[in-house]
Amino acid sequence: MKSPNTTSALNSIQPQRIPEHVAIIMDGNGRWAKSKGHLRLFGHRHGVKTVREIIEAASEIGVKYLTLYAFSTENWNRPQSEVNGLMELLVETIKDETHTLIDKNIRLKTIGNIAQLPDKCNKQLHETVEATKNGNRMTLILALSYSGRWDIIEAVKKIASDVKDGKTLPENINESTLNSALNTGEFPNPDLLIRTSGEQRISNFLLWEIAYSEIHFSHVLWPDFTREDFYKAILDYQSRERRFGKTSDQIPVH
Ligand code: FPP
Repeated sequence: MKSPNTTSALNSIQPQRIPEHVAIIMDGNGRWAKSKGHLRLFGHRHGVKTVREIIEAASEIGVKYLTLYAFSTENWNRPQSEVNGLMELLVETIKDETHTLIDKNIRLKTIGNIAQLPDKCNKQLHETVEATKNGNRMTLILALSYSGRWDIIEAVKKIASDVKDGKTLPENINESTLNSALNTGEFPNPDLLIRTSGEQRISNFLLWEIAYSEIHFSHVLWPDFTREDFYKAILDYQSRERRFGKTSDQIPVH
């Protein structure tokens, strides 16, 4: 059952202007747990409920790509117990959700240095990516052991190696060369980036890809982030005029 406010926010969304790709920095699990006198992992566990809710909400309104920043390169520096707990939670969640993803026609993809994850995690991710590969309603992209700078460095290494092998010339390198060398090469760039918890930073997420994304900062901590908050982010996006460097007069009216 949706609350009247949630329904009203949903009804205000213009179906013809749904962002094709939404990326989310899910922040605030630790603070949420601490405020309730619990360990940080309690917050991550509750964060999974929000993950489920937002995946469902996004696919229902017609978002085609949803990228979630689940574990950054820098997150390896957290206390070992938290890292282990997050990895366990990840395996458990992906395993439990595989059937729902198949039922809902959602394809799972990953970006990041997946090889660095524990074997169990790696194996489960590969299994679910394979099992959901025909899903064509929405692509869910999990960023794991990912950072924007890491991806750019890896892409530069690939391009440098192509130059060395004579496959390309330095003067032929352009935006599309870099685009396709990135982990995100097969996906469109995000139209909307959402960050929860009141922090207003990019934190090494999709640095190249968000060049023209609209950014919505929500003060709500991730475990408390609701469908209504998500719809509000979409409405905020729909209220913006995207100019991509052009003037207002050059933009077609919707
Ligand atoms: C940020 O909150 C959240 C994370 C680093 C992990 C996000 C992971 C989940 C929601 C669970 C697993 C996800 C999936 C997709 C199954 P924080 O710990 O940085 O919070 P804080 O800023 O309040 O400390």
